[in-house]
Amino acid sequence: MHVALTGATGFLGLRLLRRLLGTHRSVTVLARAGSGDAVHRISRFFELTGAPEPFVAGLPGRLRVVETELERPGLGLSGPAFQELADGLGAIWHSAGSINLEGDLPELRRTNVEGTRHVLELAAAGRHSPVVHHVSTAFVAGRRREGVAYEDELDDAYGFENAYERSKYEAETLIHAWSRQHRRPVVVLRPSILVTDLPPHPELPSHPLQVIERILRDARRTAGLGSPASDDAGPDGPHGAGLRDGRPRLRLVGHPHGRLNLTQVEHAAEVMVRLAGRTPSGGVDTYHVVHDRDVPVSTIVTLLERLVGLSIDLVATKADALSALEALVDFYPGLAAYLAHRRRFDDTRVRALFGPSAASRPVDLDYLLRGLVPRDPVPAGPSPTPKAAFPSARYA
Ligand SMILES: NC(=O)c1ccc[n+]([C@@H]2O[C@H](COP(=O)([O-])OP(=O)(O)OC[C@H]3O[C@@H](n4cnc5c(N)ncnc54)[C@H](OP(=O)(O)O)[C@@H]3O)[C@@H](O)[C@H]2O)c1
Repeated sequence: MHVALTGATGFLGLRLLRRLLGTHRSVTVLARAGSGDAVHRISRFFELTGAPEPFVAGLPGRLRVVETELERPGLGLSGPAFQELADGLGAIWHSAGSINLEGDLPELRRTNVEGTRHVLELAAAGRHSPVVHHVSTAFVAGRRREGVAYEDELDDAYGFENAYERSKYEAETLIHAWSRQHRRPVVVLRPSILVTDLPPHPELPSHPLQVIERILRDARRTAGLGSPASDDAGPDGPHGAGLRDGRPRLRLVGHPHGRLNLTQVEHAAEVMVRLAGRTPSGGVDTYHVVHDRDVPVSTIVTLLERLVGLSIDLVATKADALSALEALVDFYPGLAAYLAHRRRFDDTRVRALFGPSAASRPVDLDYLLRGLVPRDPVPAGPSPTPKAAFPSARYA
């Protein structure tokens, strides 16, 4: 059964690809047209994560890259090329998407909703009725900040924290309609926030916490507060919220007992590919791919304080007078909304299938710090225990 994957160059897609290459001799990569050399980017990921040389050398022979335009009907391919692609597939993994929490709805709809529509068209056209594995997000649960979100729920009753959540919700509703209309199975995989302890690297895709850290760091610099490593923190604008212990103070709306679900991306990919091995029910099978323990928001606050050199206070409501730093951070409402969340994601279906093996290692402050602090450059000259540039990953 030949498999195609969209989003293979992304943070999650690369891990899905690694798993799929563990069970398939070759994979068709539906790469974004014009975004660069997909095989090169994929190969760099495998090199940087410690894949054996022969594995990396063999990649060009195992990856068939088809450049596609997700946002265009027929994926931007000619009619015959689209049909030939569709007819060769037994399964389609759709992981491509825009995860821009600050993006506007029309833009996010083009990628996340129309992109999904075009992937479904590909699945509908295929002679072998390929099964669709759609990567959604647990955050289609929307602006429900407390209680429990279940796997079989899909409604917009609570509204959404941002246009990203809405676009992913709309993509799921499209999938339900398509599945009913075509009487075809779809597996919907809903991960929570994905993280890694692999240190950041310019040639690897960022993950959401890295993006948040970058926003805060840039805001700090733009507000004239210097960089975290320097001690040149100046006065904090006309409505200065002041300094605490020499660190700029930042008030963010959040809940002191808030908690968020963060899942290791490697573990999420493993669970997803295991789920794909199940015989689908025939309709839409939805799974929450989440960690069994939430991370307290206070841990995330401590993490950001350490990385960006801030003193963060969680407050119940937005202050009337914002400091220069707070005004800059306020430009990113998608970022702070989650600090008030206390909701749990029920993953009974995954647990019922896999039992304790569905659980993963803890995500704690040390784990998160490792994934956000760039690895020190290897010192020049001989070293008794030379450090590998990156920790080795396990290969199936
Ligand atoms: N990261 C998370 O924490 C998280 C959590 C829950 C769900 N998800 C879901 O997981 C999926 C993968 O996310 P990710 O973390 O891997 O994101 P990512 O690192 O930003 O990667 C996105 C992937 O989608 C491709 N892509 C984006 N826009 C595209 C477009 N307009 N046309 C074609 N390809 C496009 C990118 O191609 P290029 O590399 O060429 O740009 C890349 O391969 C998404 O559907 C997302 O909603 C992610």
